[in-house]
Amino acid sequence: PEAITIQELANRMAERAVDVIKLLMKQGQMLKINDVIDADTAELIAEEMGHTVKRVSEADVEEGLFSIEDTTEHLKPRPPVVTIMGHVDHGKTSLLDAIRNSKVVTGEAGGITQHIGAYQIEQDGQKITFIDTPGHAAFSQMRARGAKSTDIVILVVAADDGVMPQTKEAIAHAKAADVPIIIAINKIDKEGSDPNRVRTELLSEELVTESMGGDVIDVEVSAKSGQNLDKLLEMIILQSEVLELQANPDRTAEGIVIEAQLDRGRGPVATVLVQKGTLKPGDILVAGAEWGRVRAMLDEDGKQVKEAPPSKPVEVLGFQGTPEAGDMVAVVENEARAREIVEYRQRQIREKASVVASGSRGSLEQMMN
Ligand code: GTP
Ligand code: MG
Repeated sequence: PEAITIQELANRMAERAVDVIKLLMKQGQMLKINDVIDADTAELIAEEMGHTVKRVSEADVEEGLFSIEDTTEHLKPRPPVVTIMGHVDHGKTSLLDAIRNSKVVTGEAGGITQHIGAYQIEQDGQKITFIDTPGHAAFSQMRARGAKSTDIVILVVAADDGVMPQTKEAIAHAKAADVPIIIAINKIDKEGSDPNRVRTELLSEELVTESMGGDVIDVEVSAKSGQNLDKLLEMIILQSEVLELQANPDRTAEGIVIEAQLDRGRGPVATVLVQKGTLKPGDILVAGAEWGRVRAMLDEDGKQVKEAPPSKPVEVLGFQGTPEAGDMVAVVENEARAREIVEYRQRQIREKASVVASGSRGSLEQMMN
């Protein structure tokens, strides 16, 4: 079962329920003997108490979904996924717009000015995928996820402002995910900009740039004037060559939701970054607690695409509900399987909510006593 009462868990382990409650209390959860805990918590508790856990039944539905690894002979080179991070207003979106506009051939389909969170460009025959992130403090989760699903982080630091709280936070996420960082010192066109101050401040974050004798690549740029954008792209390609990025394009697709919203006319729309396999129209996919059948896939110019191979971001139409940014995406064999997984996950979400509710009731009662 995916959820279990404390009594039942204790019974199965042949332990005393009071000991389970004590352990949970140590982890800050005030629960009573008939309260329900989720499978993950139960597993942790059981392991803490020296038991080996083997999941059965429905839990396996989820377990099986992402666990298939590709063998080396099926791997082929794929473009780098580059995530732009940095403090609020340091020019992340401007930089992405500038790069994109410099790559758009005149006369190409409109929609250039429209904001998009993810797109792919081609530089000297080499594709690069870019993903934008917000710099506002409230989006820490997005930055953490961004760092995990990317190959390279471009850390944008405004030369007139320097290293700020979310600059530091982004560095921490990139380091935790072990992702190489390229520094883009932006706004160098501005009066009072001081790129060297940025480099000095980065020393305190243990990022020693090349000009300071270290090995962190830094490029002075201006999103406004377009200065050094080519150099930045060159550095990205150089860095990605070192990484030798690969994926198997010849399998059912897996990926991650970059952003998603409910569109009045088109229904749920999710920007999906394909990480493995190739996504095609007609595919049935699961994303978090939602599923859908790919009705259409659109690229950054709003053009329909018939195939999305690894590292390709596409807008996917055809979801039944709106998934959430950060949700893992996987193509499954049929609709029945999709429904089974989604029902399981939605039930888990409901149960988690009720666990939280009963947990807080417990602690409230404690407080009253
Ligand atoms: P958030 O997404 O809110 O974190 O901001 P952001 O990092 O995406 O910054 P955005 O691109 O929205 O730019 C913020 C402001 O800085 C805008 O007014 C831009 O016009 C300005 N700006 C961005 N890059 C440059 C630059 O290179 N030079 C100058 N002078 N201004 C810039
Ligand atoms: Mg922005």
